[in-house]
Amino acid sequence: MEWTRERRYRRLQEASAEELKQLEMTVQQCEWRQHFHIQPPTGLLNDPNGFCYYNGEYHLFYQWFPLGPVHGLKYWYHTSSKDLVNWNYHGVGIEPGYYYDSHGAYSGSGIEHDGKLHLLYTGNVRDKNWVRYPYQALAIMDEDYIVKKQEKAVIESVPIGYTDHYRDPKVWKENDTFYMIIGAQRENETGCAVLYSSLDLKEWKFEGELETNLKDFGFMWECPDYMVLNDKGVFIFSPQGVEPSGDNYQNIYQSGYIIGNPLTMPNRTFKHGEFHELDRGFDFYAPQTTLDPQGRRILVGWMGLPEIAYPTDRNDWAHCLTVPRELTVKGDKLIQKPVKELEQLRTNEQKVNGMIQNETVANFDLQGTVYEMICEMTSADAHAFGIEFRAGETNKTVITYNRKEKKIILDRSQSGEAVGEEFGTTRACYMDAETIKFHMFVDTSSVEVFINDGEEVFTARIFPNKEDRNIRFFSYNGTVQFDARKWDITK
Ligand code: FRU
Repeated sequence: MEWTRERRYRRLQEASAEELKQLEMTVQQCEWRQHFHIQPPTGLLNDPNGFCYYNGEYHLFYQWFPLGPVHGLKYWYHTSSKDLVNWNYHGVGIEPGYYYDSHGAYSGSGIEHDGKLHLLYTGNVRDKNWVRYPYQALAIMDEDYIVKKQEKAVIESVPIGYTDHYRDPKVWKENDTFYMIIGAQRENETGCAVLYSSLDLKEWKFEGELETNLKDFGFMWECPDYMVLNDKGVFIFSPQGVEPSGDNYQNIYQSGYIIGNPLTMPNRTFKHGEFHELDRGFDFYAPQTTLDPQGRRILVGWMGLPEIAYPTDRNDWAHCLTVPRELTVKGDKLIQKPVKELEQLRTNEQKVNGMIQNETVANFDLQGTVYEMICEMTSADAHAFGIEFRAGETNKTVITYNRKEKKIILDRSQSGEAVGEEFGTTRACYMDAETIKFHMFVDTSSVEVFINDGEEVFTARIFPNKEDRNIRFFSYNGTVQFDARKWDITK
């Protein structure tokens, strides 16, 4: 069946109980369902939304099209957790359908105000000729998870100078003022972000553009996020239309950040350093952060990309979120570490260590499809070393440190069923260190590798067979000392 516009814009209520049951069954039969990542019950998940600590819990919503693995009429799906590890699933958080969000409740953020969780998001509207009208809307959630949409949108139009690509409000508070940053496209089809201010989250004053030195950097900036972290201003965004350059910007769209002096509103000039990608892997986009009661800045990303088919589509679902990462600033770079709470998931600790020399060694005691592993590898002479995992007779996924070229490389060319091959099958980034610490979170169909305590991260979906369980350590042209700890994750 073809995904016509009519099918993409069907509402959840239009599906019969039988149809939904059938969908769920198809999803359940998928061999690639995840164990410890947030994934949709059916249909497609994309951006994390409304991430916020409110009333004793973390709330994390996501963009959701329930009725198939395609981008269609978007809902917000609501999840919550006390520990960032065990999530409760609450179903629909925001339902589209008002005059200001008839064609989707698009991405946005959450902030507590007057004891309630205020959700600011983009209402996507299309007219008969399929012309797009973005509205910025407000929905308010109480302690019982009841979400009430406001009668009217809070920002009804796009200011002169910008196109209808104007969305994804992220809100924060400084003293008594709320600020909102929105991803936008200028009329000359370059991307940027704009700022608003408000005293009550309802009436918003347009302040103007965030002035950066990235004047011509892609055609649209999606999902902006701004924060002060370790006394620096950090601006995260997902630019579309940045061309590949060396090892950088290899995915269809990018997401990254610039760091500078904190903004001092109403001065919107952001003096900043270079743009860095947040993730060096294949499947990462549209991240969102929140500040928690412990003062941590936590980031969750969409482990997927727009406009790419994934093998799970056949089973009527697509994508998941990344594990939460704690952010800190070091120089002009962000350090990303998996949140400590994830350690709760560890069971069956195993330790192995040893020396390898120009060889690939499988340790058959060490196996799995859903696990965490930390492996330190050191060499004074090897050309390259690394780890093969989710490996079997023919398949393997490989993370390598090429010591000679000073590069970390993730290779999924033999991972199993291919995905997005037209964008290449390896990803790489610069890294200069004697010891490399690979900290990996492996789930049924994904891997997240944190390198050297979060200096870089590689995230990828992979689609191996369930028999592909081996872990092998290797070294080329030299001797490598390795030291690994592994835990099963049983969830
Ligand atoms: C990013 C994005 C956002 C938009 C949402 C719609 O992936 O395109 O800009 O709000 O997805 O689902």
